[in-house]
Amino acid sequence: MNEKIKKHILDLSVVRMCELSPGYFEIHLISACGTIPEMHPGQFVQVRVDGSPETFLRRPISVNLLTVDHTELWLLVHAVGAGTKALACLNEGHTLNLVGPLGNGFTLPSSDEYDTHPLLVGGGVGTAPLLFLGQELSQRGIRPTFLLGGKRKSDIMQLEHFQLLGDVALTTEDGSVGERGFVTQHSIWHTDAFTQVYTCGPKPMMVNVARIAHEQKIPCEASLENMMACGLGACLCCVEDTVEGNLCVCSEGPVFDTSKLKWI
Ligand SMILES: Cc1cc2nc3c(=O)[nH]c(=O)nc-3n(C[C@H](O)[C@H](O)[C@H](O)COP(=O)(O)OP(=O)(O)OC[C@H]3O[C@@H](n4cnc5c(N)ncnc54)[C@H](O)[C@@H]3O)c2cc1C
Ligand code: FES
Repeated sequence: MNEKIKKHILDLSVVRMCELSPGYFEIHLISACGTIPEMHPGQFVQVRVDGSPETFLRRPISVNLLTVDHTELWLLVHAVGAGTKALACLNEGHTLNLVGPLGNGFTLPSSDEYDTHPLLVGGGVGTAPLLFLGQELSQRGIRPTFLLGGKRKSDIMQLEHFQLLGDVALTTEDGSVGERGFVTQHSIWHTDAFTQVYTCGPKPMMVNVARIAHEQKIPCEASLENMMACGLGACLCCVEDTVEGNLCVCSEGPVFDTSKLKWI
């Protein structure tokens, strides 16, 4: 799917830590050597969380953004358990040890595909890899449309960054911003013609997004967030049943063409 990108073990320093809304943290990291190695939208890093036997295993976190000049790596973390809550307590100056970039990212249109009109559909913290993908598309002269959803307004993160890169449509379950309901119910599915769908978020959401894309005959790629341990294809704890058999999400994904998945 993507050209092979070299994996690294990196010690990066926190330069900015920001709680975007309750429980959601944007972490900006820099390298002592000045540049962060190449990464591809949809790839992830395995983050070491020090200080507790509970967090012995590294935690997989998507690359939220690699700035165009490669000076900063951003992670967007939803604090849900011991590991992510520990990450939420980092402060400026702390060091974070990462392995990455890991996995295969989204397939990008070639630079001569000007008439492509991609729809990027994200739910909750699943919007994280879509910011980097949006930046990469924009760099290629393609204006993406983002369809972002959450339970309520405070679940929609980094809106101002998405708006700089493309058109943004929103849904919330309580109707506090955008159309009320789920991303799969948004009117944009009936009004615009898309050539490619990319999605990341809770599995039921992605399954339904894939179903709509399939009905509308639009190619669709989904970034899966199966539970992981090694992140390297060795422990088999992240497998997904596909038309090609069981595949490790960490090494064969996390991004899959949904026609390969047994979802529809
Ligand atoms: C490829 C990939 C990319 C991810 N990107 C991000 C990201 O950018 N930002 C982010 O906040 N989270 C992301 N996640 C999810 C994140 O890895 C988990 O939330 C985290 O590992 C939970 O660890 P914990 O110690 O905080 O919680 P735990 O105590 O381990 O678990 C807390 C709760 O989260 C659930 N959980 C654990 N792992 C996962 C998982 N992989 N997916 C969904 N639920 C899980 C558990 O079942 C439990 O209910 C990603 C996961 C994968 C596989
Ligand atoms: S997490 Fe170990 S094989 Fe995927």
